[in-house]
Amino acid sequence: MRESNIGFLARAFLNYYLRSMTNKKAIVMSGIRPTGFLHLGNYFGAMRNYVKLQDEYTCFFMVADLHALTTHPDTKELKDNVHRVIAENIACGIDPEKAALYCQSHIKETSELYLYLNMLAYMGELEKTTTFKDKARLQPDNINAGLLTYPVLQAADIILHRATWVPVGKDQEQHLEMSRNFVKRFNHRYGEVFPEPLAYNFGKDLVKVPSLDGTGKMSKSENQLATLYLADSDDVIRKKVMKAKTDSGPTAPNMPKPDYIENIFQLMKLVSDSEVVDSFEVAYQACTIRYGDLKKQLAEDMVQFIAPIREKAEAIRTDHDYLKKVMDQGAEKARASAVATMGLVREVMGLNY
Ligand code: TRP
Repeated sequence: MRESNIGFLARAFLNYYLRSMTNKKAIVMSGIRPTGFLHLGNYFGAMRNYVKLQDEYTCFFMVADLHALTTHPDTKELKDNVHRVIAENIACGIDPEKAALYCQSHIKETSELYLYLNMLAYMGELEKTTTFKDKARLQPDNINAGLLTYPVLQAADIILHRATWVPVGKDQEQHLEMSRNFVKRFNHRYGEVFPEPLAYNFGKDLVKVPSLDGTGKMSKSENQLATLYLADSDDVIRKKVMKAKTDSGPTAPNMPKPDYIENIFQLMKLVSDSEVVDSFEVAYQACTIRYGDLKKQLAEDMVQFIAPIREKAEAIRTDHDYLKKVMDQGAEKARASAVATMGLVREVMGLNY
């Protein structure tokens, strides 16, 4: 049996078990840092799947503004960035009526739980966290304690809602493993309050979105010219796509495609009609393909795909009354769940005098 099948069965069983115990939907929690712009990889790798989750689970989707402070202490642009992330989430289909869409710093209980968990986190394990080592290398003049305890704050975000599923990418797996360790220590020391959170693996729904330069995936901060952002204008989209690497074309029928050509096809499959993709596929196999036409088609289909999301996000981003309403509504839902958990936490910790 493939790993994703096992994951699926384990998940189905755990969901069934949790629901039968509590008669409630299982809880999903995830966070996104308001640093950098959302791109096509975030859309197909995360947002699109979050949108499906919100119908099936009780979802908490959070903008991690406190986490941003560990690397971006200057808060001049923070408010705009938080607004943008919330707007982009809604434009991608997150429904604030269904999911709790909120801002981390609005939930003070997070900071309290973070403090308690810090007493259960050891220097040694924090220092050897991959993301800590990477970030410390990038900012040698600001290796602050917040950076060191980043995974503790993330654990607080998750277990504050007693969430069981955390849809995140591979780069967050170590943080989740640490969350489980903190949960085990807490439960063992004070009493069973928290379930152990697991990565929600989308299995076959997880699409990799290649970058336009044929090296790796689209990225929030690196290779910006090879990444399509949801905020890119039509012209920028066209320019980036037309710059994608190609060559002089296949020299014999039915040749395997080089990586960078395969990537263009892969991107096309995400946004173009299947007949369009098929026709270029046939042309490739027959050696009659013209890469200029391929890229022009992809550019136009990308524009068709991204423009409505960008325009919707832009309309929301500039509507500050609406944004405030959404964040208040999200915070209210998140706070209700946080207050309930913290009542239990203080009780089992004996902080009830
Ligand atoms: N660390 C995550 C990232 O860099 C963001 C994050 C903060 C998060 N809190 C979280 C993710 C809680 C999942 C759950 O992307």
